[in-house]
Amino acid sequence: MKLLRTIANLGYGSRRDVTAMIREGRVTDAHGEVLYTDDEPAHADVRIDGEPLDPPAGLLLMLHKPVGYTCSTKDRGRLVYDLLPPRFARRSPQLSTVGRLDRDTSGLLLLTDDGALLHRIISPKSKLPKVYEATLAQPLRGDEAAIFASGTLMLESEKTPLLPAELEALSPARARLTLHEGRYHQVRRMFAAVGNHVEALHRSHVGGLALGGLAEGAWRTLGPGEWEQLFQQ
Ligand code: URA
Repeated sequence: MKLLRTIANLGYGSRRDVTAMIREGRVTDAHGEVLYTDDEPAHADVRIDGEPLDPPAGLLLMLHKPVGYTCSTKDRGRLVYDLLPPRFARRSPQLSTVGRLDRDTSGLLLLTDDGALLHRIISPKSKLPKVYEATLAQPLRGDEAAIFASGTLMLESEKTPLLPAELEALSPARARLTLHEGRYHQVRRMFAAVGNHVEALHRSHVGGLALGGLAEGAWRTLGPGEWEQLFQQ
């Protein structure tokens, strides 16, 4: 791909802005040689003001979403995109969240610009496990694990029962819940269905990927090995 398009697609500016950057000699190769709009250098060889380019298309990243941020590009209030470099919101292809976490949920959120990967992750066929830790208003009753595992629990306004989910009590009012699907507000609605209320919710894993020690609000790109790990359980 020509340099002008490569740089514009990464969100550095409009084609006009990027043309100006190139004319000003701000775009060089790794040895400082000025590049031109029609050049087609290897991505890794390009520098803008001496800095390497952002990662090319085919991006998968993990964000530790804090409470209070919305998984949307244009909601009012704080957006998960505010935690990423501003250029990332202007990339083409667009960087989308892989499913959503509620504003009041924290934890592991994936974002990608790879449509095929996104569909592979969120497809009902994939049944990728997602692990949540819920802090509850009431102590567990003791029958929740059996109800959630039954495969017969129907949530209000749903037409099909939930797939079996695994619940592990962590303390009287804290539980780890593993889901294999992603319905709207699913964890909160499941606990509401058994007479409880989720006070805090955190997602620690998606497929074979764990949040690990990633600090709240921080993000990192995932390499090819981690794309594979995502689908290994
Ligand atoms: N279930 C919920 O209720 N909320 C989330 O953010 C994710 C799963």
